[in-house]
Amino acid sequence: MKVIGFNASPRKNGNTAWVINKILENVHEKGIEIQSWNFSDLNIKPCQGCLGCHKDGGHGCVINDDMQKLYRELESTEVLILGTPVYMGQMTAQAKTFIDRLFAQISPRFSPYYKEKKNKVKLILVFTQGNPDPCKFQVYFEYLKQMFQLLEFDVKEIIVVTGTRTEAANEQKELQKKLENMDLFTVRRDQI
Ligand SMILES: Cc1cc2nc3c(=O)[nH]c(=O)nc-3n(C[C@H](O)[C@H](O)[C@H](O)COP(=O)(O)O)c2cc1C
Repeated sequence: MKVIGFNASPRKNGNTAWVINKILENVHEKGIEIQSWNFSDLNIKPCQGCLGCHKDGGHGCVINDDMQKLYRELESTEVLILGTPVYMGQMTAQAKTFIDRLFAQISPRFSPYYKEKKNKVKLILVFTQGNPDPCKFQVYFEYLKQMFQLLEFDVKEIIVVTGTRTEAANEQKELQKKLENMDLFTVRRDQI
């Protein structure tokens, strides 16, 4: 029983990290094991497109870097909280690099090596943005939801934190209440 948080912001103490850590804290209070990672602490190279991961039946990514640690984390977790700030209307480069590297492990539906996973990792997506309008990037977030479903994640929730330029996430009282009260975060054993 484990819940992990991946922060794809370069800022280890920024808005995205705060939201992820708040969720993890709540989960930890229920006695569930947690683990968190900042991509900015890790050396993760972009996918080289060598397809070495699918050679001879597929033995995983051949790049020996810190992504290997995240592959192992994903193997042993029930819930992933993945957070990224919006950069130029999209996810950060760190988030995209991570997602491309999932090609090796997850063998997505468009791959000839696709095998349906029995135990899908439940995914909570966290986006933070300076723009105060919650609908501003909604189409993009919905698109990402579908992309993650294609990658065999069970997308449970998309949390969008807005207006962080004028009010940081940790100053947003309503957000704090919402994170504490959301069913998904008071994760009960029968839910994960
Ligand atoms: C390079 C860069 C690009 C950004 N692009 C956008 C954007 O397109 N839309 C937006 O609303 N906020 C944008 N922002 C603001 C961040 O999304 C916002 O401050 C976010 O909460 C930062 O999260 P963090 O503190 O976890 O790093 C950008 C910030 C940076 C540094």
